[in-house]
Amino acid sequence: MSEQLSTGWSWFVILITLLNIVACLWLIAWASIRRDDEPAETETTGHVWDNDLAEYNQPMPFWWLGLFVVTIVFSLMYLVAYPGLGNFDGLFNWTQERQHETQINQAEHRFERKFAEYHEMDIPALAQEPDAVDIGRKVYQTWCTGCHGSDARGAKGYPNLADNDWLWGGEPEQILASISNGRAGMMPPWQAVLGDKGVAAVVDFMQDPHAGTAAVEQGKALFEQNCTACHGADGTGNTMLGAPNLMDDIWLYGGDEASLTSSIANGRQQGRMPAHRDLIGADKLRLLTAYIYSLSH
Ligand code: HEC
Ligand code: HEC
Repeated sequence: MSEQLSTGWSWFVILITLLNIVACLWLIAWASIRRDDEPAETETTGHVWDNDLAEYNQPMPFWWLGLFVVTIVFSLMYLVAYPGLGNFDGLFNWTQERQHETQINQAEHRFERKFAEYHEMDIPALAQEPDAVDIGRKVYQTWCTGCHGSDARGAKGYPNLADNDWLWGGEPEQILASISNGRAGMMPPWQAVLGDKGVAAVVDFMQDPHAGTAAVEQGKALFEQNCTACHGADGTGNTMLGAPNLMDDIWLYGGDEASLTSSIANGRQQGRMPAHRDLIGADKLRLLTAYIYSLSH
């Protein structure tokens, strides 16, 4: 008990409580005694409502009074066992704080055992573990939905995490690194280097690499000169640099002519994945990674 009553007040509360209980007993006894001046059981009390509604003078049934007595006995036992009489702690020594502490300890113990179990498992194994994935999903909902969406399918500029297309790689360690350390893709602007015509030629090449026209051939040459260092010799991307695959139909900023022209002419540098290592503990980061991994496996 954190707050103690002064001894005087404590005794005062005990006295009042016990007096009340004794008074209840007395009331029951008093009510069940038949007095001489009362009408007999078969007579009515003499009160009449609504012209013809009268009331017999029956004593309360025995079982009913018995229930009252039982509740009083129970209350006395309760007051002996649990705190309720002034400063008396009760024989069970129960307190709200102690019960709370016990429950917290039990919950933590269960959590630690779970985490210790998870510690031994690698991320693909965790991704098979429904409880682990569930914790990961909750962490995701707390930290990530604002940018990647509640279904993790992303939006323009925010990658889809539920498919098999990765800027920075979809291996467990790569996903974990993306989340822990953050990522920032650096796509330089090419307007100054290639000019309008050059940009248009590269866009033509990207949209239809096998058209065979002069513009596409020029675009192909420009692409090989300027773009393969980051996007790979075959244009399928490089996860070391976060350079996307340009040969598939999945686009971070759009695959139509206008979006491609803008990506290439102006570059794309606003894509920032913030680091979460200091925000989310190491154990939860692994479970979050398992959740992300489970979305595409
Ligand atoms: C402020 C917005 C923002 C938040 C919050 C955010 N992300 Fe990202 N995330 C991004 C952007 C933008 C990228 C792409 C970076 C780039 O362009 O290279 C990204 C990239 C990623 C990648 C790499 C994707 C790939 O294709 O390789 C993963 C994995 C990822 N985020 C997971 C998460 C998780 C999990 C969370 C929650 C802890 C999260 N992100 C929170 C903006 C965000
Ligand atoms: C220095 C490395 C680098 C070079 C060189 C480079 N890129 Fe990129 N490119 C990137 C990165 C990184 C991204 C992803 C930006 C992001 O995540 O925000 C990107 C994104 C793009 C996109 C947007 C893709 C999408 O999914 O929306 C296009 C289109 C693109 N690059 C085309 C090119 C072309 C064409 C060239 C050559 C003229 C080129 N890039 C040269 C690194 C590079």
